This record gives sequence, structure tokens and C-alpha cells, in this order.
Amino acid sequence: MTQWWRDAVVYQIYPRSFADGNGDGTGDFAGALARLPYLAELGVDAVWFSPFYPSPLADGGYDVADYCDVDPRFGTLADFDTFVAAAAGHGIRVIVDIVPNHCSSAHPAFQAALAAEPGSPERDLFIFRDAPNNWQSLFGGPAWTQTPDGQWYLHLFDSSQPDWNWANPAVPAMFEKVLRFWLDRGVAGLRVDVAHGLFKDPELPDVPDPTPSDRPSPWFHRPELVAHYATWRAILDSYPEDVFPGRRTAVGEFWGDEITHLEPYFIPGGMPQAFNFFLFQTAWDAAALRHTITASLALTEGSDVVAPWVISNHDVMRPVSRYGAPAPAHSDAEVDVALGTRRARAAALLLLALPGSAYVYQGEELGLPEFLDIPAADRDDPVYRRSQGARLGRDGCRVPIPWSCTAQPYGFTEGTSTWLPQPSGWGSLTVEAQLADPSSTLTLYRQAIAGRPRGEFAWLDGYDLAFTRGDDFACVLNLGAEPVPLPAHESLLLASDAITDDVLPQDTAVWLRLR
Ligand code: GLC
Repeated sequence: MTQWWRDAVVYQIYPRSFADGNGDGTGDFAGALARLPYLAELGVDAVWFSPFYPSPLADGGYDVADYCDVDPRFGTLADFDTFVAAAAGHGIRVIVDIVPNHCSSAHPAFQAALAAEPGSPERDLFIFRDAPNNWQSLFGGPAWTQTPDGQWYLHLFDSSQPDWNWANPAVPAMFEKVLRFWLDRGVAGLRVDVAHGLFKDPELPDVPDPTPSDRPSPWFHRPELVAHYATWRAILDSYPEDVFPGRRTAVGEFWGDEITHLEPYFIPGGMPQAFNFFLFQTAWDAAALRHTITASLALTEGSDVVAPWVISNHDVMRPVSRYGAPAPAHSDAEVDVALGTRRARAAALLLLALPGSAYVYQGEELGLPEFLDIPAADRDDPVYRRSQGARLGRDGCRVPIPWSCTAQPYGFTEGTSTWLPQPSGWGSLTVEAQLADPSSTLTLYRQAIAGRPRGEFAWLDGYDLAFTRGDDFACVLNLGAEPVPLPAHESLLLASDAITDDVLPQDTAVWLRLR
């Protein structure tokens, strides 16, 4: 059966911020449904929804209180079904987010655990101990919180996100039901949150350096994961073709400090896809990017596991602001938006020319900058709160999408305000404005998605960062100060910026038809 995801373009929807259908200032399924034609015209193969489940939204919905329902703020299960069916009508598949490392402290199982005795079966669904170890939360502060009866529970993230005890067979059994619930509803795939988490070293040992990182540790990249994902793969593969040809898929959110940390997952019969986050973690430097791409391709070589390329998502600074500042920016004034936009457009042509699948995060196709100057009182991310403001967190990349008009709320809602504030000055970045502009970033994404190359990848000699796909396609980037003459070509297919005299200026990329 076809593995449709091998070279798919998947669009990530962060539901709170995509489109609001009921005027309350928060995105929802009704809003997303109304925007389906936009996604179809963008040309994406699938959409991945970040969590929309009932949740206190202490971590934007990655704190799940019920894995098998829709939060009323986003709609109902019937609205979800309507979206899936309508998306299929546009040839678009739907991927849902599964959050297996932890739930919300509001989940009935955790509430029952709190109400039960130490040592009870209820507590054994989570990781309760009489004393904490020295592990730290990835969001800042200790990874343990004490309960009124004196015991402590483990949470790798916020204290409102208790970690499940994956050593208890009841936990994998419960998640199997969750997987089947969504697969039975016709989803084409699953995005697996913190896929390198789940299992913990049963000894829960203190570690010499508790600073959070993504390297193998007593809480990340445990050996049990490989066999575990083989069981999930078997579930996916047990589903027959339905509306769409091909199998169901899953993509794991595997972070690593180094690319080699991901090697164990590139085995036959495991998780079908593992995100490749190294592209956006690499500096804007030709040699560094070339090194990352070479190492990434080596990882997937000979494996049937796909490692989708990513330059942004809901957890990281938007490319325009990342590439437009010499160091991680803390305020909008530190970002050279023109420079960042130029580089982000070149990065888009790189992303969409590389072999394999690519994930595009809502607003990336509009070249939105990060909104760094969100007032403290409006910030929502627990990272900001838990670090007492030392880390700004991820709100700046989660700002509601500007659809039209010249002022807030830019057509995002019929109401007057949005759950997170939008900056002024986004009038030229709206979908409406960019659809009317043949040189806009949105137009570039639409053209690039429509014209993605399919041939064999090979580096093109004589350039710092250039490659061919098959005999007749080349992608050339120039990141250096000196202009670069283009290789001989039949036609210029796409350019991230204006090109004159067959010379590629700094921070520009082109797609060429070679013959
Ligand atoms: C993943 C999500 C992130 C969330 C975290 C904890 O990294 O992408 O948004 O905060 O998991 O669930």
C-alpha cells in the first residue's frame, strides 16, 4: 500500500489561533472548516491539529483532561467529523495529536489518584514517590510537586501535567484505545507528542547534571520505546484503506541534542516518521546547513522511516525573527524583519526542495514574524510563568492568524478581541493582502508546494549550498556576501527574491529548470 506521507506537505493547525467561527476570540473547528478552501489552494496534502481535547489549557491543550472528546471551546465531536469529511472532499487528510507522556491534572484518572492512598492502583498509573529526586522540569523548576498527603508526583513539564507510568500495563492499554478511537473516526495519522519521553528508568536515579536537555537520560530516549512503537505501527497497519489510498501514519516528536540520538527509531516496523528538527536548529550558515542536511539524509538512507523537514512549529521562534536577529531576540526592536523575511523565504525554497516530507506551521506561509512584545499580563505560556519571565516562552509564534483588513483582529474573529493579542502593522501580512500580491510569501509557498521536485537528490559541486533533484532541477542558495553566478539553466522556476543578470544575491534561493 502507498506510503502517502513519504513526500507529503503537512500543514500544522494550532486550533486556538487558526480561525474563529463563533466570535469568542479563540479558534475552533467551525473557523477551520470555513478556511478549508484556503488550505486546498495552498496545496497541502494533510493537516495536523495540535490538541483540541477537553483541557484546562494550562499548556495550550497539551494538558489533556479527556483524550476522546473535543473541548467545547473548539466545537464538538460532530464538528470534528464534519471537518474530516469536508477535508477529504478537498483531498486533505487529517492528523491528530496524541499526548502520551502526560495528561492534565484535571484528568479523572489523576484526580482519582490524588484521592486514593499511597501505593494504590490509582496512584500506580502515575509516578508517585515519598521523596523527589533531582530531576528538573523542561519548563523550569523541579519536576516534582508534593500532594497534601506528603507524596510527590513526577511532571517533566508543568505541575498541571502529571507523567503517566508507562511501566504499568494499564497505561499502554488505555492509549491503544485512544489510538483506535481516532483511527476509527477516519484520521489518516497521529502526531505523537514528546515521543522520546514516556518510559522512565524505574530506579528514578538522581543525575549528575539535571539541566533539561534532549539527550538520552533516565527520562528520555529509553530503550523500551523502540518495541513500544512497533506495537503502535502494527495498530496503524491493521487499518484498511478507506477514503484515501494507503496506510495510516504517525509522526513522532523526537527531540535530540544530536542527530545520532534519533538513530534507534530508524528501524523497519517502527514509528513511520520521526520529525527532523535539526534544520531549524542550524545557524544561517551554508556549511552548517549542508552538514545538517548530509547528516539527516544519512539517517534516513536505507530506512523506511521518513524524517520530515521543519523550519517552524508552535514551540519555536518564527523563522523571520530567528533569521532576522544576530542572537535570540527578546523584543521586536531587536529583529531586522526585512533581513529575516529575505532569509525565511530562501529557507522556504530549501525546505520544499529537499527530498521527503515537509511540515508547514500556520503563518509560516505568510512570513509572520514572532510577536515578541506581548504584554506580560497577556502571556499564556507556562514556560514564561515557571521561569518568572526569564524565558519569554512560545506565545509569540501562537498569535491568531491575520486573514484580512488592516487592523486587529484582522478577520480572525467576528468578535472584537482575540485570546492572545495581535500586533499592529500586520495589514500587509494578511492572507487577503498576500493573495493579491504575486511577490508575497504566500504566493511563493503556493508556487513552491505546487512545483516540488521529486527526483534523486545530489549535491551540486562548485556551490556552498546547492543540489539537484534528478537531471533537470536545481535548488541554489547563496548565504554569503559575494553574489553567485547561477549555473547554466533553461529557465528560472522560482526565486525567493528578485534576480537580475543570472546572479544570485546574498540570502536568496532559486529553483532552476536545467534542461
Ligand atoms: C510538546 C509540545 C509542546 C508542549 C510539550 C508538553 O513538546 O509540542 O507544545 O508544551 O510537548 O506537552
